Amino acid sequence: MIRFAVMGSKGGVGKSTIVYGISRLLSERYIVTIVDLSSSRTICNVYGVRGSLMDGHDYIVDQGNLKIISLYSQLSGNANLAKFKDIYLDLITETDYLILDYGVHLYDKLVSDELIVFYENMSVPTHLIAVSTPQEFIISSTEKMSESYINLVHGIKEDAQVVLEYFVLNMVREKTKFKTLAKPKMGFVEIPFYRDLSFNGFWNANIPKEIVSMANNFEGFLESRG
Ligand SMILES: Nc1ncnc2c1ncn2[C@@H]1O[C@H](COP(=O)(O)OP(=O)(O)O)[C@@H](O)[C@H]1O
Ligand SMILES: [Mg+2]
Repeated sequence: MIRFAVMGSKGGVGKSTIVYGISRLLSERYIVTIVDLSSSRTICNVYGVRGSLMDGHDYIVDQGNLKIISLYSQLSGNANLAKFKDIYLDLITETDYLILDYGVHLYDKLVSDELIVFYENMSVPTHLIAVSTPQEFIISSTEKMSESYINLVHGIKEDAQVVLEYFVLNMVREKTKFKTLAKPKMGFVEIPFYRDLSFNGFWNANIPKEIVSMANNFEGFLESRG
């Protein structure tokens, strides 16, 4: 299993757009599970997932190679972790690519519950994709967020490998020089502002070629592990 975490410090920057695109493409050949932890629940809404695993009902849509699991709940403070654990691990065992769509808050019980359950039972690295728009303050808060995430995972499992793979600058309207301290292993990706994505929503638009190329590179992750 290859685990991806897609995150960004602001809503509307394109996290779910990227989750949607790479999962569509990878699920043409592999088993993909999207885990939606975001409070906006965009992916869940697109696929018609109404409930949450934390509440115990209507938490999954299964389209064969592509599963969507909803974790966000207004009531998730009440979740039964033992029950969540059994169901969650069972749902994700067969998955080739597990893709987490995070919200804008990391210090959240839902985020740590999922990490605890996952890392108590699995020992695969987490590959991070950080998503920002080109404004300087959003870039810097996104950088800080990915550092915080790495620390958060290490607080739960000291030796877990967490790698920032891509730092995405989305909705780029003009060539700009941006300052960042981030050192993504696979590099920076600039995605232009696409009118059809903006007007129709990512679920009604073509997948941008920049996302296609990221997904193609991710196929190598699984193949190199055998
Ligand atoms: N490169 C882009 N150009 C124009 N619109 C975009 C682009 N990327 C995403 N969008 C649109 O922006 C909106 C918010 O994107 P979304 O992925 O839901 O953000 P997030 O998950 O970060 O909150 C969606 O309607 C999406 O279609
Ligand atoms: Mg989203």
